[in-house]
Amino acid sequence: MYLTKEEEKIYNGEEGETLQKAIEILVALGDIYGAEKFIPIKSAQISGVSYKTIGDAGLEWISDLKGTVKVPSILNPAGMDTENRKSLPIDDHFAEKQIEILNVFKNLGIRTQCTCTPYLLKDFDVKYKDNLAWGESSAISFANSVLGARTNREGGPSAISAALIGKTPNYGLHLEENRIPTILVETDFEMNLSDFAALGVVAGKEVGNEIPLFRMKDEKQNQICPKRDELKALGAAMAATGSVALYHIENITPEVLDKDFSFEIPKNKITIEKEQIDEIYEIVNLPSGKADNVDRRAFENVDLVTVGCPHCSEEELRRISELLDGKSVKKSFWIFTSRDVANRNPQIVESIEKSGAKVVCDTCMVVSPAANLYSKIMVNSGKAYAYVPGMCSAKSVFADLENCVKEALRE
Ligand code: F3S
Repeated sequence: MYLTKEEEKIYNGEEGETLQKAIEILVALGDIYGAEKFIPIKSAQISGVSYKTIGDAGLEWISDLKGTVKVPSILNPAGMDTENRKSLPIDDHFAEKQIEILNVFKNLGIRTQCTCTPYLLKDFDVKYKDNLAWGESSAISFANSVLGARTNREGGPSAISAALIGKTPNYGLHLEENRIPTILVETDFEMNLSDFAALGVVAGKEVGNEIPLFRMKDEKQNQICPKRDELKALGAAMAATGSVALYHIENITPEVLDKDFSFEIPKNKITIEKEQIDEIYEIVNLPSGKADNVDRRAFENVDLVTVGCPHCSEEELRRISELLDGKSVKKSFWIFTSRDVANRNPQIVESIEKSGAKVVCDTCMVVSPAANLYSKIMVNSGKAYAYVPGMCSAKSVFADLENCVKEALRE
């Protein structure tokens, strides 16, 4: 990799041990992936924040770092709500360790708002073609695909290193030639929000690490125009069951609409059928909005219902509050969102919590140890559905938002 004089100085340790360690990590990555040089980044999002995922070894590694990040940097969810740690059952040892981790990041100048939807924050701007170093897979997918920004799938150490240096090696998805779609994925049925999550589960398994170009039509061959929350759900699931960091949708996503981005429709093609989506649900043939008619046997013994993977948007919170209006939950029901979205919508949060459900910030059902206390967890997220069994040692059940709420209200 070519290094400028300034980068060489850092590499030689003239700017201190932390920056030397950081640039060594980035140069090693650049050499492996054939980067020729560094490029500046606009922001970093650092994953590996929960004590549940990084443990003492991770805490020790970050504790050695000194200095201040050079670009706006934010954290992925931690293991608990940082302002209301009693909101979920978290033991004191865990909480102390989690606070230690957050303090280390804070001292490095990293914002200790912990979210996998930094793109929903009012003051964390991402623009088309911005180069980023982001670490959480659903956020990466959204940034690349929906916003047309450019980030590789950064691990914790490489994202911190990029934040400290303010640059990343120019390889992978930072290069236009690596962003060309490689497989065409056709669908021809209408979808609701959770269908997009289910589509992501199926598509991720089918395409692996390809770059899909979706051709989404309804039964009458009309173009489907997904909303942002639907794209969030699709990308999160595909990143979890496959390793899709970038997808395109014909006539929709920004890169395919950019006439300077030239590509051919991939010859490699698959079709995903409605039946494959239905199989993801524990109950098949669940028409959206007809939650009353559902055979609920699959939901036997659900002891926790969680939504907000990725973290809920304002629109999702509003929908949940409508569904819960005037009712009381009978089961633990946790709704995860970012502090920023919660703070901007205090009335919606209050109305949800009136039902006995909990709106929890900074964490999620996967990275919080609290979910490990349950045995069967209902989710409306393709990503949570895939991760809960491994990360929480619990069975996961997938349903749409309406059924998640309905289940939370059931004795
Ligand atoms: Fe976010 Fe946790 Fe899901 S980090 S994408 S809510 S697994």
